[in-house]
Order: sequence, then C-alpha cells, then structure tokens
Amino acid sequence: MTTIGAKPPGASDEASAARAVREMFDAIAPQYDLLNHVLSANVDRLWWRRAVRRIQTILADPGAAILDICCGTGDMTMALLKLRPPGSRPILAADFAREMLNRGVRKFGGPGVGAREAGQTYAVPLEADALHLPLRSESLDLIVSAFGFRNLANYEAGLREFHRVLKPGGQLGILEFSEPGGMVGKAYAIYFRRVLPAIGRAICGKAGAYSYLPASVGSFPPPDEMLGLMRASGYEQCAWQPYTFGIAGLYTARRADI
Ligand SMILES: C[S@@+](CC[C@H](N)C(=O)[O-])C[C@H]1O[C@@H](n2cnc3c(N)ncnc32)[C@H](O)[C@@H]1O
Repeated sequence: MTTIGAKPPGASDEASAARAVREMFDAIAPQYDLLNHVLSANVDRLWWRRAVRRIQTILADPGAAILDICCGTGDMTMALLKLRPPGSRPILAADFAREMLNRGVRKFGGPGVGAREAGQTYAVPLEADALHLPLRSESLDLIVSAFGFRNLANYEAGLREFHRVLKPGGQLGILEFSEPGGMVGKAYAIYFRRVLPAIGRAICGKAGAYSYLPASVGSFPPPDEMLGLMRASGYEQCAWQPYTFGIAGLYTARRADI
C-alpha cells in the first residue's frame, strides 16, 4: 500500500503539503460557499443532510462530545447542529485555515454570535490541525469530517489521531468524494477534470484550487483501500455508503474497545 496523503502541486513533504493546502483554502475562502453550491448544483446539501441522518442517534444525545474536523465554512457543522436537542453540549468545529473558520463562525456561532445569543445549540471554533489535535485522549464520542480528510498530508496519521481522541466505542464519520466507475464515471470525469476547474477559475480567479480538487480525488484511496486503512488503524464496523452514483460517500466506523 503506497497511500500516504494529499500532494498539492509544489509540495515536497508532509509539512509543505499541509502548508499548501492551508494557504489554498485561505485564498479561496471568500468564494468557497458560492463555488461549492454552483459546482455541485446544490447536491452537496443533500450529502451533508444524508450523512447526519446516519449518525442521528449520537447527535440526539445532549451530552455527546462531538468534533467536526475540517469544518471549513461550517455547512456540515450547521447540518449537525440541526439534529442537536436544545441546550446540548456545543459541538467543536475545527479547521486549520483561519479564513475558512472565520466564515464558519458567522454561521455556527462562537461567543457573542447569532445562534448562541438566541439560546440555540451552537459550535465552538477551534483553529487546529487534524493531525495534531489539541484535545485529550479518549475524550470524544463522535468525529465527523466532510470533504476535508482527503486533504490531510498523511491519511494514516489522521486516522490514528482521530483514534487517539475518540473514546473506545466512539464513532467516526468521513464524507468524501470518490471516483465512480462505468459510464457515469466516464461522464463525470469529463465534468470533474475539465468543466469544473474552468468554472472554478472563472468565479474564483485562481487556477490552482479547482485543478487540485479533481487531482486530490483521483489520488485518494478507493473505498476498499480506505476501509483497509481504517481497520489497520484500530477501527471496527468499517463501512462505506455511496451517495449519488458513488460521486461521494460516507465512511463510518467505530473505535474498537481495547
Ligand atoms: C473542502 S473543505 C470542506 C469544508 C466543509 N467541511 C464542507 O463540507 O464544506 C476542506 C477543509 O479542510 C480543511 N483542512 C484540510 N486539511 C486540514 C488539516 N490538516 N487540519 C485542519 N483542517 C484541514 C481546509 O482548511 C478546508 O477548510
């Protein structure tokens, strides 16, 4: 198995890969939401909602300790919050790109921001690297990541770090893109590799980010390999559920009891 992690253009090692990813997301943060919804024709909203329904039992527990890692501008965090009962423990929403996180805070409410003042459930922002979480070992009941895991500089290290902070029996949910096979895959590849980067460039004015997207999905391990990595990193009940012909999918797993 050769899989290690994301390799943005120009990166020579894990530190430079992480830096390039962070700088890229900071640079596209102002246009990120618009581009996301345009490029996915709003299907991304269905994926977030479908993913949170799968983990609704934990979300319904008001005391559950939950981390949304790679939360970006916070749309997954908002989908998670919708299923939290009033007065629940706040969700932790973490990302290492400050510009993305700042936009997220406006939606999910840090201290003194909208949702919190209205007495609703809210999320606490945390500027942190997924590979080095500033959290106690065995402290979380659930970790969720939507379209962020693929960008980690080392996938195995990410899974191990999530394992460290999850309680035994804690749940992991990773929503990620994948490359569908067959005719759908061929048609989608044309859109993903040619049309999408051109639209991204037109709206965003930056060439790199939306060429990186298809490249990063192409080099992300296919579901079988990803499930193997999860098992090897100490998870059980590992499963992948494809969404929309396998364009995206939800990985779920449970941290094995020791
Ligand atoms: C494609 S965005 C996804 C944002 C959001 N979860 C969503 O569904 O729209 C990926 C996010 O992952 C973050 N990210 C990538 N690598 C990270 C790392 N090592 N630690 C923390 N955040 C990371 C990026 O900064 C970016 O905000």
